Amino acid sequence: MNSDFKPKIVAFVCNWCTYAGADLTGTSRIKYSSDVKIIRFPCTGRIDFMLLLKTLSSGADGIIVSGCHPNDCHYTSGNFHARRRWITFRTILDFMGIDISRITFTWVSAAEGAKWADVVNATAEKIKELGPYVNYQEAINETWEDEKWES
Ligand code: FES
Repeated sequence: MNSDFKPKIVAFVCNWCTYAGADLTGTSRIKYSSDVKIIRFPCTGRIDFMLLLKTLSSGADGIIVSGCHPNDCHYTSGNFHARRRWITFRTILDFMGIDISRITFTWVSAAEGAKWADVVNATAEKIKELGPYVNYQEAINETWEDEKWES
């Protein structure tokens, strides 16, 4: 592990639960890794998982997707749609050779400021262990090469 490595982690969070939870982390003065940049969505159901590919191809080392707990979604079922899409999409990413251990999918409620800090810190530690994601382009190029398409 390179101790100078500062990972670039992007967190896609829903407005109603995780964003409020992250806000609570701040107002509770709980310290957590500054390696994460938060992008707020109305709901995790709104997240297009192609966005994850774009994020990795733009140089992110890790991603967090977090929203309301099951049955707590502000829009009733957006988080269930997100979970279903993630289960399908991660299989495709894995097939493409993308390191899916760099993507954390979780639930954090508005009352879980401490949990948000734990999720971010654990993800930052994991990404530091893994190092910079320099193999993304390699994985994409290999996918387009012949043998995976011919088999
Ligand atoms: Fe939070 Fe839907 S509003 S996941």
